[in-house]
Amino acid sequence: MKAIAIDRNGGPEVLTLQDIATPSPAAGECLVRLEAIGVNYIDVYFRTGTYPAPKFPFVLGQEGAGVVEAVGEGVTDLHVGDRVAYAGVAGSYAQYASVPAARLVRVPSGISANDAAAIMLQGMTAHYLVNSTFPLGPGHVALVHAGAGGVGLLLTQLAKAKGARVVTTVSTEEKAALSKEAGADLIVHYLTEDFSAKAREFTAGRGVDVAYDSVGKTTWEGSINALRPRGTFALFGGSSGPVPPMDLQILNAKGSLFATRPSLAHHVATREELTMRAESLFASVLAGDLKLRVEHTYPLADAARAHVDLEARKTTGKLLLIP
Ligand SMILES: NC(=O)c1ccc[n+]([C@@H]2O[C@H](COP(=O)([O-])OP(=O)(O)OC[C@H]3O[C@@H](n4cnc5c(N)ncnc54)[C@H](OP(=O)(O)O)[C@@H]3O)[C@@H](O)[C@H]2O)c1
Repeated sequence: MKAIAIDRNGGPEVLTLQDIATPSPAAGECLVRLEAIGVNYIDVYFRTGTYPAPKFPFVLGQEGAGVVEAVGEGVTDLHVGDRVAYAGVAGSYAQYASVPAARLVRVPSGISANDAAAIMLQGMTAHYLVNSTFPLGPGHVALVHAGAGGVGLLLTQLAKAKGARVVTTVSTEEKAALSKEAGADLIVHYLTEDFSAKAREFTAGRGVDVAYDSVGKTTWEGSINALRPRGTFALFGGSSGPVPPMDLQILNAKGSLFATRPSLAHHVATREELTMRAESLFASVLAGDLKLRVEHTYPLADAARAHVDLEARKTTGKLLLIP
C-alpha cells in the first residue's frame, strides 16, 4: 500500500510517499480501508521530533475514517463493511491501518467519512476541554486562542453551547470572520492587539475564568495575565513552540491560579469515555448544532503541502488527506 512515512525528523520534505506492506490485523484489531485522514498539529510535532517517533520509518497520522476490510481474532462487535473512525492511534497517513477494535467508533449513516475524520481528534479535544478540564456553564468567560483553527472553531461552538461567553484570538481578518460565525463574542487580533487587556476589558476588569491555550510559547504569559483569581490556565498545545520552564510561584502571584496540561489520550482512555464523547459529537453534528469546516483536502501524496500550509498559518478548520 501507499503511505506517507518519515525516515528521519525534519521539515515537510521528510514526508515521503512510500510503498509499505499492508498491515494484517492482529488479535483484537481491525484492518480499516481509510477514506479520509485527519491532519493535526500533533503530526507536525512527530515530524519535527518534538514528540519522538517510536521507530523509523514511521507512518505519520493519528486520525482516520473508513470501512472495516478485515477483522482479527477475537473481534466480535465489528464486521467487514462497517463504517468506523478513530483518533489517537499512529499510522493513519496510509491507504490502510490496523487499529485496535477498542479504539474504533461506529460512524452513523448521516455522517460522511470526511466529517467523521474531521471530528474525532479535534472534536473530542474540544469536548473534554469544555466538559472535563474546566466544565463551562452560563456566566463563564473562556479565552480560546487560534479561534479559526481546527480545534478553535469547534471549541468556540461547544463553549457557546454551554452558555459561556467566548473571547478568541486570530491572526487575520478572514479568520476573524470565521470565528465570529462560530459564535465568538469578542475577537482579538493577537498579532497587533493586547489580548490580555482586551479580555480584561471584556470582563469589566475581572479576568476570564479559563484560558484554553494551544499556541503556547507566544501566548502563555498573556493567557495567565488574562485570568481572574483562581482561574484555570489549560495549556493543551504549542503551535508557536513550547512554553519555557515556569516557576509555579507565578500561580500564586497572579491570583491562586490553576494550571493543567491536558491530553486527549487521558480523556478517552476507557471505551465508555471514548464512545460518550464521539457519540455526543456525532449527535450534535446530525442535529445541526455543531458545524464542521473541512476546507482543505489534499491527496495523500501531498501531505507535505498540508504541513507547509498548516505551519504557515494559512489554514482554517480541518485539513484532510484523501488516499
Ligand atoms: N492536548 C490535546 O489533547 C490536543 C489535541 C488536539 C490538538 N491539540 C493542540 O491544539 C492546537 C491546534 O491544533 P489544530 O490541529 O487544530 O491546529 P490549528 O489550530 O488549525 O492550527 C494552528 C493555528 O495556531 C495558530 N498559531 C499561532 N502561532 C503560530 C505559529 N507560530 N505557527 C503556527 N501556527 C500558529 C494559527 O492560527 P492564527 O493564524 O489565527 O494565529 C494556526 O492556524 C495545536 O497546538 C495542537 O497541538 C492538543
